[in-house]
Amino acid sequence: MPIIGAAAQCDEEVAISKAVCQPTLRLSVRSITYEAKDILSFELVDSEGASLPAFTAGAHIDVHVADGLIRQYSLCNDPAERGRYLIAVLNEAESRGGSLALHKTIQEGDLLEASKPQNHFRLNYQASRHMLFAGGIGVTPIISMVAELEARGAEYLMHYCTRNPEMTAFKRLLDPLAERGKVRFHHDGGKPSNGLDLASTLREYVPGDHLYCCGPAGFMTATANAVAHWPTEAVHFEYFSTPDDKQVDKTESETPFQVSIASTGDVFDVPANRTIIEVLRENGYTVETSCEEGFCGTCITKYVEGVPDHRDMVLDDDDRSDFVLICCARSKTPILVLDL
Ligand code: FES
Repeated sequence: MPIIGAAAQCDEEVAISKAVCQPTLRLSVRSITYEAKDILSFELVDSEGASLPAFTAGAHIDVHVADGLIRQYSLCNDPAERGRYLIAVLNEAESRGGSLALHKTIQEGDLLEASKPQNHFRLNYQASRHMLFAGGIGVTPIISMVAELEARGAEYLMHYCTRNPEMTAFKRLLDPLAERGKVRFHHDGGKPSNGLDLASTLREYVPGDHLYCCGPAGFMTATANAVAHWPTEAVHFEYFSTPDDKQVDKTESETPFQVSIASTGDVFDVPANRTIIEVLRENGYTVETSCEEGFCGTCITKYVEGVPDHRDMVLDDDDRSDFVLICCARSKTPILVLDL
C-alpha cells in the first residue's frame, strides 16, 4: 500500500508538489541553548557537514522526534545561512509528546531525521510595509522574517507579545532592533487585557501593508478579529494549534461521501463521523500525518476529481485548486478522487 503524506516536504520553496517523499535530511544536533523559560533552541547541521537545502523566511521542517512522532518546527535563523537550521521549542504543559521528547531526550550530538523546508507562511515581497505580530513561541517564524527583511532593507515593524521578559525568547538578539524602533516588546503578566491593544493597533489599514501573525490560539483569534476589515490577501497566519471554532468536526451531522484512489480505482465510504485518513488507514493505507487537525500540512494530497470541502488553515486558494488536506477535509461532491 502507498505511503500518503509529506507530499510538500520535497519542496524547498513555494510550489506544492505531489511527489511523495520520506524524510530526506539527517541532521546532527550541534548545540542546545536556553532561550527563555521553558524554551530551548536546537542548532541542527547536516550529519555529513554538507550545506543544507535553502529556505525562505517563514519556512518549517518536519522533525521525526521519535518513532511515529512528527512535529513541525519553524526555522528561526537567517535564511541566508546554508550551514545550519535553528529551531526553538517550548516545553508545553499540554505537550502531545513532541516538545517533551525534544526537551527531555535529545542531546547535543544526537541525530534527527527531518524533511526539507517547506513554507506555507511566506513574505509578500510586494508589500510596502510588513507588520509582524508574534505571541510567545510564535516568534520562531517571525524572527526569520526579521532577518530577511533586514537583509533586504525592507520596511517592517515587529510586535512581540509575551508574559514577561523571562519568557521572551531571542530577546538579546532583538534588543538592538528594539533600540532602533523596529521591534516592540509587550508583556501582559498573563492577563491579555494588560498587553498590546490589538484592535486599536490594527484599526487603520494602510494600503500596501501586509500582516504576519503567529502565536497561541487566543492571540491568533484576537489578531484575526482586529484585522477582519483588512483585505484577506494582506493577512497571513501561521497556526500551530487549532482555534476552537475550527476544530475538526467528526459528528453525525456531517454528510457522508466516498473517496476513490485514482491509481487503483478503490472506492471507500467516508461516514459522517470518520475522516478520510481514518478510512484509508482502516483499508490498509499507511498515512503520514502530524497534527491531524488541519494546521501542519503533512497530509497534503493532490485530488483529480470532485470538490473538496476544505477545513484546513494552511492552503491558500491557489493550492486548493489542486490539493487537499485529508486529515480534516470532507467533500462537497458525492465522490472525491485522490491522485494516489
Ligand atoms: S496532518 Fe496536519 S494538516 Fe493534516
